[in-house]
Amino acid sequence: MEAGMVTPAPALVRFSGIQKTYDGEHLVVKNLDLDIRKGEFVTLLGPSGSGKTTTLMMLAGFEVPTHGEIIADRPIKNVPPHKRDIGMVFQNYALFPHLTIAENIAFPLSVRNTNKAEAQERVRAALRMIKMENLAQRRPGQLSGGQQQRVALARALVFNPQLVLMDEPLGALDKRLREQMQLEIKQLHETMGITVVYVTHDQSEALTMSDRIAVFNDGIVQQIDRPDALYEHPVNSFVAHFIGENNVLSGTVETVEKGYCRVALAGGGAVTARAVNVSGAGASTSLSVRPERIAIIPNGTSSDQPNRLPAKVQNTIYLGDHALAVLDVADNREFMVKLQPGAHDSLRAGNVRADSLRPGDDVFITFRPEDCLALDPV
Ligand SMILES: Nc1ncnc2c1ncn2[C@@H]1O[C@H](COP(=O)(O)OP(=O)(O)OP(=O)(O)O)[C@@H](O)[C@H]1O
Ligand SMILES: [Mg+2]
Repeated sequence: MEAGMVTPAPALVRFSGIQKTYDGEHLVVKNLDLDIRKGEFVTLLGPSGSGKTTTLMMLAGFEVPTHGEIIADRPIKNVPPHKRDIGMVFQNYALFPHLTIAENIAFPLSVRNTNKAEAQERVRAALRMIKMENLAQRRPGQLSGGQQQRVALARALVFNPQLVLMDEPLGALDKRLREQMQLEIKQLHETMGITVVYVTHDQSEALTMSDRIAVFNDGIVQQIDRPDALYEHPVNSFVAHFIGENNVLSGTVETVEKGYCRVALAGGGAVTARAVNVSGAGASTSLSVRPERIAIIPNGTSSDQPNRLPAKVQNTIYLGDHALAVLDVADNREFMVKLQPGAHDSLRAGNVRADSLRPGDDVFITFRPEDCLALDPV
């Protein structure tokens, strides 16, 4: 190792070569290698059926890998679930309905034979943490969904596990409460220094909360990276589409040079793009451009950008803090450009505003080559 380099925290959890099949035929987790460092917040993100819960269940000990090994400090193959030092929160919080809130939170301590005085103190601290001291004697049925979710969180943390697993814990909550709980969980993670493995199919939740995100598709991890790196540097079309909004143009690579390529568009015209995932000249490619990285220039205005394409306005959509222009560009009839909504947004003058565009208008769009990614064809 080079002098002066910061040593990364050691891996607390290591999946190596993990495969899983339920029916002996179809692999639902295909070849998972994943290191999770102590104190990290790692999210498994992916569409329904991509293998997220299965991966979490193997780590928790409720499912056994078909191949490979999971190490959590020590190999955990033969350690039963309740002996693993792991706290868990699931989507349907599964509180015990006949126990009070305090008794629910105390449950993990009683199965671990924690002495009574210490258990009482810890339950008190946990209730304080979730700001529910005054509800300790209620039963789950007398709480709102958000309050029940907080109790589930307190129950998962009360025995100071070094690892906490959460599977879509906020799925049942409405948007506002979900966003509030996201920040609370994130804060708890930071103050307690615990390691969290979190499952969601909601990309904005993953971006908000995670140190790193593993993007799953069909049992395969497509990319593991920091949120900003996933957004700015997706390695393939799946990741580019799954994280954030994205416009696609299809074309054929003409030349590749110094990390950039010239692409002839299927719908006419040509642009320069970052050559991220293309095999070479002659290959088909899908270009990805984010809606906020595109400028609309009125017909007749000149621009020295190498990427300049004619477009026809289909529609504009008002969304309060911004607006979207829906354009017809090359072979894409739903090409989105993010704009300021209107003239009242006067501090940021200069760009074309949504309220100055009419359906049928002919305009041009430009975007920088570095904001246009040439990826595998979809
Ligand atoms: N106990 C089981 N027996 C058989 N097949 C299962 C079992 N659990 C999951 N599967 C299958 O394994 C695949 C992955 O399922 P998994 O629950 O891991 O997906 P997921 O990514 O968590 O999806 P979701 O976002 O819908 O929760 C799916 O095709 C699913 O039908
Ligand atoms: Mg699941």
